[in-house]
Amino acid sequence: MAKNVLISGASQGIGAALALEYANQGHNIFLIARNESALQDLCSKIKEKNVEAYYSVCDVSNINQVKNSVDLALQSMNSIDIAILNAGIMGSERISALDANNFKSIYDVNVFGIVNFLECIVPIMINQKQGTIAGIGSLADSRGFPGSAAYSSSKVAVRNLLESARVELKSYGIKVITVRPGFIRTNMTSKNNFKMPFLMDADKAVKGISDAINSGKSIYSFPMPLYLLTHLAKLIPNSIYDSILSNWAKKNGKV
Ligand SMILES: NC(=O)c1ccc[n+]([C@@H]2O[C@H](COP(=O)([O-])OP(=O)(O)OC[C@H]3O[C@@H](n4cnc5c(N)ncnc54)[C@H](OP(=O)(O)O)[C@@H]3O)[C@@H](O)[C@H]2O)c1
Repeated sequence: MAKNVLISGASQGIGAALALEYANQGHNIFLIARNESALQDLCSKIKEKNVEAYYSVCDVSNINQVKNSVDLALQSMNSIDIAILNAGIMGSERISALDANNFKSIYDVNVFGIVNFLECIVPIMINQKQGTIAGIGSLADSRGFPGSAAYSSSKVAVRNLLESARVELKSYGIKVITVRPGFIRTNMTSKNNFKMPFLMDADKAVKGISDAINSGKSIYSFPMPLYLLTHLAKLIPNSIYDSILSNWAKKNGKV
């Protein structure tokens, strides 16, 4: 049966690829991001697949804009069965050149961009007595990575936020899924000037993400080899971690 799927950060990258993947599966799509022309183009492309497609221009860090977009999604589709909270940004984040406003803006999108949707969508899903919320975290939540203090710590917040939500919302029939990708080829990673192990194409990544969401997995971490490496990084002593990562940081201009 066709489901009604809302996706934030849907104008490009993983979000846009997920929108096309869900449309290919026959579901109706509600796209959210700030770039209106990209949303219009994607909406037209999705409609060619004979499913319903809508969009709303919205800055996810602004609760009033999120409220308006969620209202519009509900009016347009009558329900929100799956909400994929994917919008996210990365910044230049060296501690030696810290900019608190830049740091905060990363949290505003990556963390509050999810919190704002939870405030608006959870009551709708409680009322529906069903729903699935998938939040896009990152394998970068595994440890504090040099040059990535705001991004990697924001994804730790995302991981714990979604875990609290998963446990609390279980009794309402709402599933919460945490998606933890490794490196995916998008505009976000095109800015990285270091070698990204196990870099994947977005088209391939979203097939795994939608399988995980559709099967109701609680956490989906991928690709497996990078998941194992980041998991190992959590287990090694600080002295070894610090030595390896500080050498890497020097080589890659992250200090
Ligand atoms: N690429 C990777 O390797 C990777 C790995 C792990 C996790 N992730 C996570 O996956 C998600 C998607 O990343 P991506 O690689 O697809 O990045 P991307 O290509 O840069 O796309 C980011 C999306 O987020 C939207 N966005 C950013 N700020 C927004 C705001 N204030 N309000 C509304 N939308 C906003 C952008 O749309 P507009 O600019 O049009 O608003 C865009 O659609 C992010 O949460 C990211 O942290 C990515």
